[in-house]
Amino acid sequence: MEIKQVGVLGCGLMGHGIAQVAAQAGYDVVVREVDQGKLDKGLGKIEKQLGRAVEKGRMEQNEADAVRGRIKGTLDYSDLADSDLVIEAITEDLDMKLEMWREVDSVVKPEAVFATNTSSLPVIDQAAVTSRPESFLGLHYFNPAQVMKLVEVVRGITTSDEAFAVGTDFAKSIGKLGIPTRDSAGFIVNRLLVPYMLDAIRAYEEGVGSVDEIDAAMKAGAAHPMGPLQLSDFVGLDTLGSICDVMFDEFRERRFARPPTLRKMLAAGWYGQKSGMGFYDWSGDEPVPNPQLS
Ligand code: CAA
Repeated sequence: MEIKQVGVLGCGLMGHGIAQVAAQAGYDVVVREVDQGKLDKGLGKIEKQLGRAVEKGRMEQNEADAVRGRIKGTLDYSDLADSDLVIEAITEDLDMKLEMWREVDSVVKPEAVFATNTSSLPVIDQAAVTSRPESFLGLHYFNPAQVMKLVEVVRGITTSDEAFAVGTDFAKSIGKLGIPTRDSAGFIVNRLLVPYMLDAIRAYEEGVGSVDEIDAAMKAGAAHPMGPLQLSDFVGLDTLGSICDVMFDEFRERRFARPPTLRKMLAAGWYGQKSGMGFYDWSGDEPVPNPQLS
């Protein structure tokens, strides 16, 4: 199956990067948001990234203009009707995703393949509400989608060989390393990464080290580009909370349980980098440890 047009649902933290990477690979992209403000914000991020790429000499101005020209923003599901592949990257909330897929399924051509960028929700639960569960798979990107090499290609129990091949070929065509995984909550990366981030929060709770000591230790001692608490802020504490709840419900193991500090931070409205406050205060040029947590 030849893919010409890619539909992207959501133009937030992940959706804008997914849209940008597809357009950079030459696909026509239609990206749908719920309101104009969110859409403008997401498209603005893409324009900023393209501007940076030109500034740094990684892209010519005419190429950046062509990439931007291939991305159409919309608030209307029906603009996705002719998409060959539709990738959803909306909020990590199953009910919202199911409601969205019912709408999308009714307007997008029957031969199109659907993919979810969910970090942890079972692919089959979403596939089952569409009329095409065999043409449904997971394509799980990593933040920032423009930079991170991996896409987990998730085979649900109903995914056909053809749809899985579409996902694998698509990942390759956008320059990503597609790794196949089974439809098990968290797939490969989050199954390992989420308990690690949660354990870092527990280490902080137990006074093993301060926020910046824990992060500095993992950067200097394990050569990670970011410490686990900064990474939690970067992923989004709300997203981390949703993922660990799903994984805890699925596996009933303490390693996936939400630590009290995370629960309290979310109650305070501290969602990490996206809200300006988390384990770090992100309001300045450089993140500084949140003084309330010291
Ligand atoms: N969009 C596009 N490009 C970006 C970017 C973004 N949001 N952020 C950084 N970059 C680019 C920069 O332009 C720069 O490119 P050049 O080298 O060509 O100039 C390059 O990435 C490096 O950026 P910086 O020099 O600004 O900063 P850095 O060296 O500290 O790298 C980072 C930033 C790539 C984010 C790095 O810190 C990193 O790899 N962090 C870990 C990220 C990670 O683990 N992500 C996975 C999270 S888990 C997940 O996403 C799954 C889930 O379901 C929760």
